[in-house]
Amino acid sequence: MVKSLTCSYLFTMYLHWLILLFSTAETLNVSETELYADMDCNGHPEIYRESYTTIYEFILNFTNSKETYKRPFIDGYPSFVFVDMYVTSIAAVNEKAQSLSTQVKMMTAWYNGIPLWMYSKQCGITRFQASKEMFWTPDILIKESIKTDYGTTPSPYVQLQMWEFSVSIDILTLTTACRMDLYKFPFDTQICNITFQSAVHTNKELTIDPLSKAQNITQDSKNLLAAQGEWELLLINTSKAHATVLGDLQDVLVYQITIKRRPLLYVINIIIPVFFFIVLDVASFFIEADGADKLSFKVTLLLAISVLLLMLNDTLPSTADRIPLIGVYCSVIFSLIGISILETILVNYLMAKGAQRRSAALMETTAAVTGRDDSLPDSVRDENEMNFSLHWVGVARITDVAFFILYIITIIAFLSGLGKHWIS
Ligand SMILES: *[C@@H]1O[C@H](CO)[C@@H](O)[C@H](O)[C@H]1NC(C)=O
Ligand SMILES: *[C@@H]1O[C@H](CO)[C@@H](O)[C@H](O)[C@H]1NC(C)=O
Ligand SMILES: *[C@@H]1O[C@H](CO)[C@@H](O)[C@H](O)[C@H]1NC(C)=O
Ligand SMILES: *[C@@H]1O[C@H](CO)[C@@H](O)[C@H](O)[C@H]1NC(C)=O
Ligand SMILES: *[C@@H]1O[C@H](CO)[C@@H](O)[C@H](O)[C@H]1NC(C)=O
Repeated sequence: MVKSLTCSYLFTMYLHWLILLFSTAETLNVSETELYADMDCNGHPEIYRESYTTIYEFILNFTNSKETYKRPFIDGYPSFVFVDMYVTSIAAVNEKAQSLSTQVKMMTAWYNGIPLWMYSKQCGITRFQASKEMFWTPDILIKESIKTDYGTTPSPYVQLQMWEFSVSIDILTLTTACRMDLYKFPFDTQICNITFQSAVHTNKELTIDPLSKAQNITQDSKNLLAAQGEWELLLINTSKAHATVLGDLQDVLVYQITIKRRPLLYVINIIIPVFFFIVLDVASFFIEADGADKLSFKVTLLLAISVLLLMLNDTLPSTADRIPLIGVYCSVIFSLIGISILETILVNYLMAKGAQRRSAALMETTAAVTGRDDSLPDSVRDENEMNFSLHWVGVARITDVAFFILYIITIIAFLSGLGKHWIS
């Protein structure tokens, strides 16, 4: 076990060196012949071609004799496979389908057992591209995959490195299942897993390890990120785990991708308009309290909110465990406006009743003044009617003011309570 771990560690170190060599040679614009100046075949294309042919023949000989399609073993140790995955774009996040679409660059390196180093003196050829079909390739699959496609034409080659390693690089378009918690939508952060594991091999036959450190993967992904639209990539973390396949342990490499939504669009489109509707509703208390105008104004507000609720319905999944706070926000404000409409109707009713009484009283008083039936009890009754009418109007006024104060307190309490949960 310890030996296996040491072995694995050494291979990792070695691979880092390899990758570094292979990337610096490209980025620093140093040609191989400059790196290996003493083995310069420049100006002798025939020697170069000859070396190349020899190496190719060697590889052919080797793969023929060692059964190409057989997984390479080192003295009974597992095949060491190393994976690096960089997220190059976050194409879409589908909350309703609970899926994440990304474009990733996946680099897979594995031990191949072909001692190419024997030919390193040949014109400084340190790596060799050969057809994928000649070799065993690791059967790494993605557990969460709903759909995996090549982002470009799949490369038909693997690169054989001098020190018995193969490297293959693929650009993949992934759609993966990702359980999202939309409680804090649109101020939410999601963590999506992308899990690599062998389709059939147990960890006695194949190990999967990350090639680079998590910080470097995060940093490099951020540098590579072409498009991230609504989402910001926060972190990519890797961890190793184990799964069981038919009772045997299997190596699993988990990439945890943490992404954060940029909420501005939803703030502008939903949260601010709904907030203004409630402000308008409060303002409508100052409209002259006689009936139809005020009522139709408030009903319009209610309709406007229901349009926004429909919009929201298109985004949020119906299966959420907890109702997203934005849903609570919209529906509570919807209900508050609904209640304030009821209150307006009540006040209107009281006012109307008061007005009715008053006009009745006025009519009778007028009749009394013109003097047809002026008896004392009647005028007393008129006074009573007048008081009664004033009483109704008073009740209406008090109801209105009391409701208004209660309404404002409720709104402030609700919004501050919600805000504390939401933004924190
Ligand atoms: C690489 O070097 C060659 C000559 O050494 C030069 O012509 C070429 O422009 C360089 N490429 C870059 C990308 O710097
Ligand atoms: C490949 O195998 C053939 C026949 O066994 C042998 O003659 C040739 O030298 C080998 N080539 C290399 C590069 O090993
Ligand atoms: C993602 O992977 C981590 C680490 O292995 C694990 O703890 C977590 O439960 C996984 N999340 C999901 C949704 O599978
Ligand atoms: C990885 O990141 C560390 C610091 O974050 C840096 O020193 C190191 O050079 C990076 N390694 C590679 C291979 O980029
Ligand atoms: C990455 O994951 C490991 C193991 O799951 C954990 O210990 C570590 O804190 C994580 N790193 C970050 C930056 O979250």
